This record gives sequence, structure tokens and C-alpha cells, in this order.
Amino acid sequence: MLRLQDVHAGYGRTTVVHGVDLEVGAGEVVAVLGHNGAGKTTLLRAAVGLLPLRTGQVLLDGQDVSRTRPHQRVRRGLAYVPQGQQAFGQLTARENLRLVADVAGREGARRTAEALDLFPALREVLGRRAGLLSGGQRQQLAIARALVTGPRVMVLDEPTEGIQPSVVAEIEDAVVQLAAGGLGVLLVEQHVGFALAACVRFVVLESGRVGASGAGGAEQEGRVRAAMAL
Ligand SMILES: Nc1ncnc2c1ncn2[C@@H]1O[C@H](COP(=O)(O)OP(=O)(O)OP(=O)(O)O)[C@@H](O)[C@H]1O
Ligand SMILES: [Mg+2]
Repeated sequence: MLRLQDVHAGYGRTTVVHGVDLEVGAGEVVAVLGHNGAGKTTLLRAAVGLLPLRTGQVLLDGQDVSRTRPHQRVRRGLAYVPQGQQAFGQLTARENLRLVADVAGREGARRTAEALDLFPALREVLGRRAGLLSGGQRQQLAIARALVTGPRVMVLDEPTEGIQPSVVAEIEDAVVQLAAGGLGVLLVEQHVGFALAACVRFVVLESGRVGASGAGGAEQEGRVRAAMAL
């Protein structure tokens, strides 16, 4: 569904991502690992259209979308949850979801209900301002909001970063459940153990290039940790 081909991207004169290839199919979790500053977020921003490509292509269902705007990619089923538990802090959780649900029309209400089934704890705090939620609740809200767009592929940037352990497990379970339901997930994750257990394939970015890569599975953890010198 989502394919990145020879993606180069960067800022100003600096190229940060140098020729990355990867592919996410329906129901697949594909993990992007790598140290701080390796270029993971830059790669995701290029994939969703927030950063122009230097060279290379982004394909959705075989169609080149490299020159389309981010909102056009959302319409084609590509959702993005940025790093850092982002939400409109002055709006309530419910209003954050409605912003997207109203655009989605009739589907919006159904998708909102499904997203809240995935994160039942969110139902309890729908009336609270997003800025007053815990980091974990705000991350769940951000994922729920992305789900309301009706994605077929979701791009998730460090969804468990800085979140208390009990909520980390809920978010990890949700990722696995979503993929089991057919969603493709491009996952940037610092928790190597979870990422490898959940993914079908992984790449390790090293200074913007693919270093180690291969099939997922918890048994890969030793090899990947060695490659990353963790
Ligand atoms: N807006 C920007 N302008 C200029 N350089 C940037 C910008 N954003 C990131 N960079 C640089 O690009 C490189 C890769 O950053 P990026 O955020 O993609 O890394 P990352 O792998 O996501 O790191 P982290 O694990 O800390 O989130 C870094 O050297 C960073 O300083
Ligand atoms: Mg990042």
C-alpha cells in the first residue's frame, strides 16, 4: 500500500535521509529503528508530504503521490501521528476528535466510536481539555484522531516515548490490534523489543541510511541491539 523508493530528504542544504526504500502492506507493522538524530522523523515527514523529497518516490497503492499535499495523502488513506503527543490543548478531547469527525461526515461518528473502543479510558476524559490530559492520554487521543480519518496506513512516530509504563502497554496492544484488523503501520519506536515483536520487517537508520534490516520477530533483538550498539 505504502512504498518508499530511494527517498532522499533534508533541510536547507543538508540531506538527512539518503536513499531509503521500504514498503508497508495491509496488516503489516514495519519498524524504523535508530538512534536520536538518525533521521527517523525526517523520513516519516517526507513520507506523509510535510517535507519535499530531494529524489525518490512515495507510492500509495502503486500511484506516485510524491508531489501531493499532506491532506491529499490523508484522503488517500495515509494518516500521521507526529512525535510528542500532539493535540489542540485548549480544546477538549471530544472537540479534538470532532474536528476530524465532522469532515468525515457520517463515517466520522462510527470511526470515533471505534477509536474510543480501542482506548476506552479516553471516554472518561472526553470533556477535559487536551492540554490537561496525561501524556499517555494525549497520545491515545492523537492516535484516535488519526483513526477518525479512516486510514489504511498509519505512520506513527514514537508513540510510546515518555509515557508511563502502564499506558505504554495499552498503546502497544492497540498497534497490534489495528494491524490485525488490516491497518498497515509504519512505526518509529525506541523500544526495540516491542518493535521487533510486532513488526514483519524492520530497518535501522544510521545517519539517514539503512544499516541493518530484515524480518521482524523477537528473536532478532540480540542482532539488532548489537547492530545499534545498545
Ligand atoms: N527542521 C529542521 N531543520 C534542520 N535540521 C533538522 C530539522 N529537523 C531535524 N533536523 C536534523 O536532522 C537530523 C535528523 O533529525 P530527525 O528528527 O529526523 O531524527 P530522529 O531519528 O527522528 O531523532 P529522535 O530519535 O531524536 O526523534 C538531525 O541532525 C536534526 O538535527
Ligand atoms: Mg524523531
